[in-house]
Amino acid sequence: MNAHRPVLYKEIIHALQPQRGGHYVDGTLGAGGHARGILEACSPDGFLLGLDVDPQALALARETLAPYEGRVHLVQASYISMAEQLAALKWDAVDGIVLDLGASSMQFDNAERGFSFMQDGPLDMRFGPHALQSAADLVNSLPERDLADLIFEYGEDRDSRKIARAIVEHRPLHTTRELVAVIEKASPRRGDRLHPATQTFQALRIAVNDELAAVQKTLPQAVAALRSGGRLAVISFHSLEDRIVKEYFRDQNKDIVNPPYEQIYEEERKAVVKLVNKKPILPSEEEIQENPRARSAKLRVIEKL
Ligand SMILES: C[S@@+](CC[C@H](N)C(=O)[O-])C[C@H]1O[C@@H](n2cnc3c(N)ncnc32)[C@H](O)[C@@H]1O
Repeated sequence: MNAHRPVLYKEIIHALQPQRGGHYVDGTLGAGGHARGILEACSPDGFLLGLDVDPQALALARETLAPYEGRVHLVQASYISMAEQLAALKWDAVDGIVLDLGASSMQFDNAERGFSFMQDGPLDMRFGPHALQSAADLVNSLPERDLADLIFEYGEDRDSRKIARAIVEHRPLHTTRELVAVIEKASPRRGDRLHPATQTFQALRIAVNDELAAVQKTLPQAVAALRSGGRLAVISFHSLEDRIVKEYFRDQNKDIVNPPYEQIYEEERKAVVKLVNKKPILPSEEEIQENPRARSAKLRVIEKL
């Protein structure tokens, strides 16, 4: 299995500018690539809290980060618990946080995890044991209409209804190959750039791991945890996630002032962050050539005021 290559690695280190003695959080450790870069850059006395829900990722990150023992705290936990984890360490404010969302290469490439429509494996797709339902649970239990809505909403697939109907007709489905065969028949799309199963697999993965809600609940915690001048860097891999990040960053970047004589008042406040880049940072052509999985990555960075 290939180890995960950190996406936008130089850009993340440049964005966070880790300093000696600083405190950093990597909410999505994976193989520990970004975490190692941060620890190197804040040597010899900077600290890192690393989180991942996947015990296999954590074991790998533990190996990668062994040389930094004493400066790293690794916890098998969701980034949703960031505030709680920081409180446990008594870190009042941190200098930088990275979230590199989605699945790692180790997860995609391991057929047993069920993330890939290119390999046969059980319909699982859980990032970690915290997820209550597997993809098989959803596929085999949701009413047709809910399944269609899920594929439309999280996969933005125009054939969501056809696919949902075919799934319901053929279930129970237990393996990725069975699901792919059903989708290919219901929505053949010859000549399309995307494989017909791409969007349904994305939709199921998002639903199984409640990914969008997780990001929504975590961004405010991350902003609250930053010290003034501290930075949050988020890499997203699809437009649904990127929209959440973009809108939250924009919201935190504006002053809220109520116009006079307005009936409904929002709590007034000054902007909380500044946008480090107006536009998202994208991987270079060179990076995409070396690592095609980087192609849909978008990095957004904010700095706490
Ligand atoms: C793209 S990989 C990160 C790769 C990492 N930056 C590196 O350099 O190796 C995303 C990781 O986030 C983890 N993850 C997904 N959802 C999570 C959550 N809610 N909390 C913590 N980790 C999560 C996945 O298990 C996966 O290992």
